Amino acid sequence: MGYWCFYLLYLVLVHQSICQTTDPTSFENLTKTIDKYAKEVLACNGSEVVSLALTVVKNGTTVLAKSYGYADYVKKIKATDETKFCIASCSKAFTTTLLAKLLDRNKSHTFDSKVKDILPDLLLGDNYTTYHVTIRDLVSHRTGMSRHDFAWVLGGLTRDTFFRHIQYMNATYGFRDQVIYNNWMYGIASRVAEALGGKPFQVLLQEEILDPLDMKRTTQIYDLKPEGKDYAKFYYVTDEGPKEVDVQLYR
Ligand SMILES: *[C@@H]1O[C@H](CO)[C@@H](O)[C@H](O)[C@H]1NC(C)=O
Ligand SMILES: *[C@@H]1O[C@H](CO)[C@@H](O)[C@H](O)[C@H]1NC(C)=O
Ligand SMILES: *[C@@H]1O[C@H](CO)[C@@H](O)[C@H](O)[C@H]1NC(C)=O
Ligand SMILES: *[C@@H]1O[C@H](CO)[C@@H](O)[C@H](O)[C@H]1NC(C)=O
Ligand SMILES: *[C@@H]1O[C@H](CO)[C@@H](O)[C@H](O)[C@H]1NC(C)=O
Ligand SMILES: *[C@@H]1O[C@H](CO)[C@@H](O)[C@H](O)[C@H]1NC(C)=O
Repeated sequence: MGYWCFYLLYLVLVHQSICQTTDPTSFENLTKTIDKYAKEVLACNGSEVVSLALTVVKNGTTVLAKSYGYADYVKKIKATDETKFCIASCSKAFTTTLLAKLLDRNKSHTFDSKVKDILPDLLLGDNYTTYHVTIRDLVSHRTGMSRHDFAWVLGGLTRDTFFRHIQYMNATYGFRDQVIYNNWMYGIASRVAEALGGKPFQVLLQEEILDPLDMKRTTQIYDLKPEGKDYAKFYYVTDEGPKEVDVQLYR
């Protein structure tokens, strides 16, 4: 679902720039176009996008703020302006911003510090990578380690247990040979933040990012109540339609 939202946002932005070059005065019409487009995407071949929220801000003024589709697809509960959405891998930008703030204050470390110096227990499948990997390598997806996402989807690894299991995950490419996306490396990056900041990751995120930006309605997944009604449920696309994903998987 996350990817679809970004895809839509991308198209909307592209669309916006095209419209603005052809007729810069018709912003009112543009918001109608976006509205129509969002509905079309949502209806696209059997609701591949379950729900989305869209805001258009022009020069500090909100000109369009709407939610579309269902927060709960099975129970047909409509998404509203209050519905919270999972931002999926957009959270990686929060992690790196947090690291930048913490590193800025820390005289001993930079993004190019070796992770092993900060997390002495770090053990990756490959010894060279274990001893040479830097914070920058972790957050730029260049460790050579492949995704191993089934380890949490099916294997039940959690944020508490993954760290000592990561040594059994093999690399696909050599260290710094290729860009290869890896969520676990961001797990290690969050441990680095905890070591630098001396507090649990979710506390640091709250104190260093959400509070200063006054993001009062943004919550972290650790705080979501599974039975909660104020957030959009997570789905993945199957041939039979959207299938719900267990929130617990992401803790
Ligand atoms: C919006 O589009 C209509 C035609 O669909 C046009 O008559 C109108 O002038 C447009 N409004 C603006 C502000 O461009
Ligand atoms: C809709 O789905 C059908 C059957 O899966 C496919 O043939 C068609 O190309 C799809 N159309 C769009 C616009 O994706
Ligand atoms: C944006 O808003 C400011 C203050 O409200 C105003 O002075 C400025 O002219 C606006 N710019 C555009 C491009 O509308
Ligand atoms: C990796 O390093 C450890 C010591 O840190 C050593 O015991 C182990 O044999 C090394 N493994 C390989 C494959 O070199
Ligand atoms: C990782 O590589 C080692 C050595 O090549 C191999 O013994 C092991 O089975 C591999 N592990 C996985 C999970 O593929
Ligand atoms: C710098 O990072 C280290 C972790 O390696 C941490 O122990 C230390 O408290 C940090 N210093 C400051 C000033 O944040």
